[in-house]
Amino acid sequence: MIKRIILFSLSVALLSACTQTGRNSLSNLKCEYRTDPMGIDVPATRLSWEIESNSRGVIQQAYQIIASSSEEKLGKDEGDLWSTGKVSSDKSIDVKYGGTPLASGATCYWKVKVWTSDGKETKWSAPAKWSAGLLQKSDWQAKWIGFDSAFAWEKAKATDTFTSLSARYLRKDFSVVKKIKKATAYISGLGLYELYINGEKVGNDVLAPGPSEYNKRVFYNTFDVTSQLKEGANTVGVILGNGRYFYMRGNAPGLSQYTHYGYPKLISQINITYEDGTEDKVVSDGSWKLTGDGPIVANSEYDGEDYDARKELTGWNKPGYDAGKWIPAQLVTQTSQLVTQPDNGIKVMDTVKAMHITEIKPGVFIYDMGQNFVGWVHLKVKGTKGNKVSMRFAERLKDDSTLYIANLRSARVTDNYILKGEGEENWEPRFTYHGFRYVEVTGYPGKPSLADIEGRVVYDDMETSGQFESSNAVLNQIYRNAYWGIRSNYRGMPTDCPQRDERMGWLGDRAAGARGESFIFNNHSMYAKWLQDIEDAQSPEGSIPDVAPTYWKIYSDNMTWPAAYLTIANLLYEQYGDDQPIRQHYASMQKWMNYMKGKYMKDDILTKDTYGDWCVPPESPELIHSKDSTRRTAGDFLGTAFYYHMLTLMDRFATIVGDNTADYKAQEERIRTAFNNKFLHDGYYANNTPTANIFSLAYKLAPAEVKDSVFQHIVRKTLGVYNGHISTGLVGAEWLMRTLSDNGRGDIAYQLATNTTYPSWGYMAQHGATTIWELWNGNTADPSMNSGNHVMLLGDLVVWYYEYLGGIKPDAPAYKKIIMKPLVVGDLTKVDAAYHSPYGWINSDWKVEGKTFTWKISIPVNTQAEVYIPATSDKQVKEGNRAISGDDGVKLLKTEGGFAVYTVGSGDYVFSSQQ
Ligand code: BGC
Repeated sequence: MIKRIILFSLSVALLSACTQTGRNSLSNLKCEYRTDPMGIDVPATRLSWEIESNSRGVIQQAYQIIASSSEEKLGKDEGDLWSTGKVSSDKSIDVKYGGTPLASGATCYWKVKVWTSDGKETKWSAPAKWSAGLLQKSDWQAKWIGFDSAFAWEKAKATDTFTSLSARYLRKDFSVVKKIKKATAYISGLGLYELYINGEKVGNDVLAPGPSEYNKRVFYNTFDVTSQLKEGANTVGVILGNGRYFYMRGNAPGLSQYTHYGYPKLISQINITYEDGTEDKVVSDGSWKLTGDGPIVANSEYDGEDYDARKELTGWNKPGYDAGKWIPAQLVTQTSQLVTQPDNGIKVMDTVKAMHITEIKPGVFIYDMGQNFVGWVHLKVKGTKGNKVSMRFAERLKDDSTLYIANLRSARVTDNYILKGEGEENWEPRFTYHGFRYVEVTGYPGKPSLADIEGRVVYDDMETSGQFESSNAVLNQIYRNAYWGIRSNYRGMPTDCPQRDERMGWLGDRAAGARGESFIFNNHSMYAKWLQDIEDAQSPEGSIPDVAPTYWKIYSDNMTWPAAYLTIANLLYEQYGDDQPIRQHYASMQKWMNYMKGKYMKDDILTKDTYGDWCVPPESPELIHSKDSTRRTAGDFLGTAFYYHMLTLMDRFATIVGDNTADYKAQEERIRTAFNNKFLHDGYYANNTPTANIFSLAYKLAPAEVKDSVFQHIVRKTLGVYNGHISTGLVGAEWLMRTLSDNGRGDIAYQLATNTTYPSWGYMAQHGATTIWELWNGNTADPSMNSGNHVMLLGDLVVWYYEYLGGIKPDAPAYKKIIMKPLVVGDLTKVDAAYHSPYGWINSDWKVEGKTFTWKISIPVNTQAEVYIPATSDKQVKEGNRAISGDDGVKLLKTEGGFAVYTVGSGDYVFSSQQ
């Protein structure tokens, strides 16, 4: 934040001096929305860049791209793969590669320069690159290998309710006889793998590869291993863990829904190109050796990892190791298509230092990490061979200071480390993760210190793309809780929770939240990939499951959960300008809509629903679900409202994909009529829950003449019956804050957002939450479904923070056009928000001092904005402390509803007005 503000003031100060001087520059070159990705398997890869300028109103007028097969050629401007010449265009995102198609494994180096409306030409950008994956099936000469059953010692554990296996270690020695020019490793290990070459871990991914619908699709990862190979003897080693592939729970009663895919398996291929142009491949096959008798004696994502350092296979992944006791790997079957992982994978993204340590009983230590988060801890320990240190993880403590684990259900969440007794030992698990704030440590030799445990925060490698701070401490705390909750629930897919025996990609939880999340994190690739998971899981008849990938197989057929499939495709288009998900999934979406219509539409009412407005605040503190019918909204109401909204999205998508045969508009008409006939009563909808009235307005189902009355019902209920508090569950919360604000009651939205009494996000924070709870009454409700780290109840809150309080809203895909319109509300005197859009950072930093409103904004190059300044007359508005004359790039468009509205181009501005 600080850096951005300094840059901002600096650039404003230098503005007049720099307006006509200095060069524009290029940064953030991306390919397929990622930085220098490897293993790309789409031919028309999409390229983008950002332009920085000290001038105002800068638009790109032309670009030139050079793409070369080597860095040297690129350095000499030899575009042997592609040279576009100067192309007149303002396109700086989603520019499709049109050069020579890359061969499997080839690398493309590229750079760009642009010409802009201020008459300038940039220098060439710094080079960027991408590499192609293995594009043909025949490029894979490696075979799937593994050990396709349980070892004798793990037979019981393999079929227990608490399934676990020892990790499989696989190795292969090989020699390199010539000078290497380039070596690339392609690998997939199911469920999880870690790859080593000559004793060194390859890459910094953890929990790889990404989760997928394993029966359809398996991801491989690509690494440049040129510098890790050497002339002479080499060794490739891989450890395999269970992940989600080997079933996470045995078929105990009630748990039979877990999908079992098989025993861990590996495919690995290293392609080597020598300096003399010849090639070699090191492939997984029956000549590899395998053992299950290594130090990771058990691993399970729910239950933890057991590591016996006495069993370490010292040197196993280096040349010269005696693998005499290992067995030959078996050739095993895996028939799903092998495709490149389309996102950045999971990494250790942050560390957390322990804040307190308490010895609650002799030898039982509780670490407070100060923050609920997801990952594991790094353990430092010194002791005697055979000492066993156990670590158990929980989100809360009981009153007696012991761990509260009732809400973890059957997850055992315990990591055990047995010492080898050789000085200081450092350890982290590989194939598990936990959601926790507290760590209970037992068996530690002596007394551990604060520094002996350090938290590793683990989630998908993505940029933090937003910042938000305001003058209100409650808003700020909720934002921090949302930030930690969101990063806690990305595991190659969005999960519902990270701690109990669930951790599934529930669709409904993300239908609105994903958009809010996308302000804080650049989640494009993860969500684009998740849409593929959803499509892969679609039944042949068209049903979309409630959970994807289907590690639990639940096809309950409802509208509200699968709606995420369409709303997220729409979000990827609006936030990132990516229409490919819409094109790619249009047919499956249509199939789902037809399936639901065919099976559940009766007289234009969609009759089927499963979850209702999930988790409304219940009438008594211990309840999970309300039994009070006045709090719940009817299923056929939700089903029909959502079906209607999905039709409006399909209609939009039809235009994008060019489908002019669709009749969505006609269907919308029919359903709106039936909906109003059935659910509209005397100026309110259904049983008059705020949720029912919210959707009628948000989805534009209510006829103009009843809108005001419907809205007044929301207001009355919220302020009266619910005493100024939230009354919605997951579903209603999707449009709550926006509906209140769009209808002129931003003050009520602000009240809900800053409440600290039950039920509210602030109440959670007041009661110690450092993330967002699954239930409004998380501190008192039954523990059987009560996670302390869910994000579904955020609804549209984060969207509201950015689009309303910060006033940063897209007016065209990818923020090519921006609406800047702040909600100055309640006792808020300051909001400082920033969002890294595809064109660059958009900044919004406003404050109110006395009667003066001051707003610093930055608009990225190659975009335009409409800026709404709160003012009763445009005469009161200044920019850069001067009256607005129109010739410094700021033009008055209109005055409207208490705002003076200006159009501006890119650049930094300081507006002020008198209230
Ligand atoms: C999950 C929710 C999910 C719900 C639907 C819960 O167990 O944690 O987030 O959407 O089930 O049934």
